[in-house]
Amino acid sequence: MRIVLAADHAAIAEKAALLEALRATGHEVADLGPFDTTSVDYPDFAAPAARAVAAGEADRAVLLCGTGIGQCISANKIHGARAAVLWNDASAEMSRRHNDANVACFGVRIQELDDIRRLLSLWLETPFDAGRHERRVGKINALDAPASR
Ligand code: RB5
Repeated sequence: MRIVLAADHAAIAEKAALLEALRATGHEVADLGPFDTTSVDYPDFAAPAARAVAAGEADRAVLLCGTGIGQCISANKIHGARAAVLWNDASAEMSRRHNDANVACFGVRIQELDDIRRLLSLWLETPFDAGRHERRVGKINALDAPASR
């Protein structure tokens, strides 16, 4: 899969670890930064990653910050991005099966790296159920379409 990965200053080490793990399993990963622990603003990193997915330049985005919440809120402002914070197996699985989530967010201050790795693998491997969920995801996409504003 083509994956874009981004973080904020809270998650530099974890971003590096996930980059290595994703590449080791054959994914094509672009690291959108940041590249050191200088304090930054997470929306500046969420937006380019979410835009890459929305534009079809990447299949998925993975966003890291202290809680995952700021990245998730930011990514969901981009039309076509469906971001979810994955805090356990059920949220990782169901965000794919029912919501066709294309952006995964994690909080490195509240989640262990091993758990993040496991949840990310589950999320990447889980397909969208489609069927009745397609109509609902279509309605999500319509909410922030330019014509609905
Ligand atoms: C940065 O201190 C922190 O606010 C950020 O990493 C994240 O937790 C926001 O949601």
